[in-house]
Amino acid sequence: MLTMKVIVLAGLLSIVAAGPWGQICNGNPKNKVRTCDRHGCGHYGATLLNRLHKGVDVLCRDGSTVRAPFSGRIVSQAKPYGNGNAVDNGVQLSGSGYCILIYYIQPVKYSGSIKKGETLGRMLPMQKVYPGIQSHVHIQNCNLTDPTRYL
Ligand SMILES: *[C@@H]1O[C@H](CO)[C@@H](O)[C@H](O)[C@H]1NC(C)=O
Ligand SMILES: [Zn+2]
Repeated sequence: MLTMKVIVLAGLLSIVAAGPWGQICNGNPKNKVRTCDRHGCGHYGATLLNRLHKGVDVLCRDGSTVRAPFSGRIVSQAKPYGNGNAVDNGVQLSGSGYCILIYYIQPVKYSGSIKKGETLGRMLPMQKVYPGIQSHVHIQNCNLTDPTRYL
């Protein structure tokens, strides 16, 4: 009886703990965030060299399918660096009250509508560029506020 209550309570808590966005990367059902590795840290506000990390890094193995976290529209291509390296691609996605940039993916398209959970693209080969990093997609709110609570 007590066990049942604990299980039910744990279930409720896990629902409460999850944000409104859907699963972003196949293989990471809880949108777990990158911790720290020798290339830096994944949480919002982390310090990277002389810059501040203005997004959050959601763990994603190279080559994994990446899904739309909410329904909306792909506004444009968005590149993190503009240097053409192996991870220099992504999109701006807008809808359902959100506007984000997602970096380090090869998107399926650069415009048009997309539904929550639909395939948005594929994780690019981050290990080639940053060996030993915890491979991740970078999610950044267009207005640079902290997106972590939506995960
Ligand atoms: C920033 O954008 C998010 C949606 O991506 C929105 O929920 C939030 O209210 C905005 N904050 C400000 C200060 O504009
Ligand atoms: Zn990042």
